[in-house]
Amino acid sequence: MEGATTNISYNVLDRNVHERKLGDKVAFYWEGNEPGDEKTVTYRELLQQVCKFANVLKSQGVKKGDRVSIYMPMVVELVVAMLACARIGAVHSIVFAGFSAESLCERIMDSQCCILITADGFYRGDKLINLKLIADEALQKCRDKSFTVEKCIMLKHLTKEDEALSGSVSPPAKRACPDLQQEKQKERVRKVRPPPQVPWNPEIDMCWHSLIGEESEECDPVWCDSEDPLFILYTSGSTGKPKGVLHTVSGYMLYTAATFKMVFDYHPDDVYWCTADIGWITGHSYITYGPLANGATSVLFEGLPTYPDVSRMWEIVDKYHVSKFYTAPTAIRLLMKYGSEPVQKYKRTSLKILGTVGEPINPEAWQWYYSVVGEKRCPVVDTFWQTETGGHVMTPLPAATPMKPGSATFPFFGVVPAILNESGEELEGPSEGYLVFKQPWPGVMRTVYGNHERFETTYFKKFPGYYVTGDGCRRDKDGYYWITGRIDDMLNVSGHLLSTAEVESALVEHEAVAEAAVVGRPHPVKGESLYCFVTLNDGINYNQKLEAELKKQVREKIGAIATPDYIQNAPGLPKTRSGKIMRRVLRKIACNERDLGDVSTLADSSVIEHLFENRCCTAV
Ligand code: PRX
Repeated sequence: MEGATTNISYNVLDRNVHERKLGDKVAFYWEGNEPGDEKTVTYRELLQQVCKFANVLKSQGVKKGDRVSIYMPMVVELVVAMLACARIGAVHSIVFAGFSAESLCERIMDSQCCILITADGFYRGDKLINLKLIADEALQKCRDKSFTVEKCIMLKHLTKEDEALSGSVSPPAKRACPDLQQEKQKERVRKVRPPPQVPWNPEIDMCWHSLIGEESEECDPVWCDSEDPLFILYTSGSTGKPKGVLHTVSGYMLYTAATFKMVFDYHPDDVYWCTADIGWITGHSYITYGPLANGATSVLFEGLPTYPDVSRMWEIVDKYHVSKFYTAPTAIRLLMKYGSEPVQKYKRTSLKILGTVGEPINPEAWQWYYSVVGEKRCPVVDTFWQTETGGHVMTPLPAATPMKPGSATFPFFGVVPAILNESGEELEGPSEGYLVFKQPWPGVMRTVYGNHERFETTYFKKFPGYYVTGDGCRRDKDGYYWITGRIDDMLNVSGHLLSTAEVESALVEHEAVAEAAVVGRPHPVKGESLYCFVTLNDGINYNQKLEAELKKQVREKIGAIATPDYIQNAPGLPKTRSGKIMRRVLRKIACNERDLGDVSTLADSSVIEHLFENRCCTAV
């Protein structure tokens, strides 16, 4: 569609309001962390808010092509911020609110963002996350590396709109007509919860509500070329440095709209709920763009599946009459541990289709999801895709594709998979090997931001002429595809991809550590857990204090999702004679599997026995 012009915010908002007459239809039922904390937003209201905030961005000098960093909790304003960027042709770069200051700084600098949008803080269950504090730390780290972000817009999410913050604040904006019910609920939550710490620097900080108050509810969309960038989203790379995956406007729009419609068999009276965070690709494609392009009504949930209790998901399903439900295998395995009673407390009669994404689903979890949650009435769509693919690439079509538990079944329209062996030959019939795609589809990423060479090397070099997913795959005698997991140095912990190199480099930055090697160890809920081997510098003793410091180090460098589960002191690591760490052997040690296969290239076999004897049996 090169040469064609469009605007995605126009397509997902104005078209729905003006042409399809969906202005009064609910776009989002927002459900807060705390039960009862809720808000409803129609398409018309969403359009107005997006226009207002797009005008704010324009007043702040943001122009087409500029990069905007967004670091926010799961609130409606996050959707508003992303669509406001899209409306003026700016490129959003959303950083998941669980990432550390260091990770945020790295992403802001890599994409050279001119402005940061964040919030004061949020609660995840009982835990307060001081988001503004972390955002400020990230901006300071940027400054230390000679990169200055001059503007930061902060949403007051936990603080009242007119509540003063430390430092000077602009006068509060007046709100049109506060909803008493909501205000009462907020009041209750505020009483029992300590407020966030909000550092304030009047030179760069601005309040979302003060800015938006005066702006017009109209803002003409900036027409973009089909291939103009829409957003950057960082994903782990096997070198340890995250890759800025870049998606463009119309291919991504078409692909997310079409896959949403067909894979969830969308009907206008559906209430759809995807439990992912918008900070990941699933939230970009299947909370914001795909559902809104179809004029769908969605639930936007801020909280946790286990808070205040393990029935929360099903309570929400009944409350909003959710018909299409999309979640991750790790969440299913987590809830499965509590049995069927917390599920059966709720009716769930509205459910029609269940979906999963993020990692291979084990047949046991699939059966539980299908039988207990869906009472064998609802087809399960196991959708395989990646940040890079933009949308579903291998997936059943509900009620049309006969299911096999644990298989993502067949390619979506226009996607042509193949299975290659190590020499790059295509395998026919039942086989196992590298999963690749033979031709592009509209939603495929266009480049790694600022590094097109890395894009080519990562995805197209190993097997020229194919897009390499990095996943292993098996095809059975009926032609069904079964994703077997990553075959590069990437781990999938609770559906989040992490590179072993990234965790290793965080560990070796600690002064006590000489070398580190990280491998995955199967975990009943998270899919994989992080098992870290560390070799300490001479004269340093391993103890619990050091272990705690190492854990903290990784959390600070990357974020809580990368916290090591096991750390083993390894005075020596198994290496080949050329000095390459034999991760294959380390994986066996982590799992206590003695069958090591061929170890003839091992330089010093004595280290292995020592590592087996000193294995970590309990998570740190
Ligand atoms: O290994 C595959 C796994 O998640 C990886 C992509 O991760 P990310 O870019 O973070 O995007 C996750 C959400 C789309 C893939 O390379 N993966 C994702 N979905 C499945 C899956 N593995 C098996 N089955 C799936 N349905």
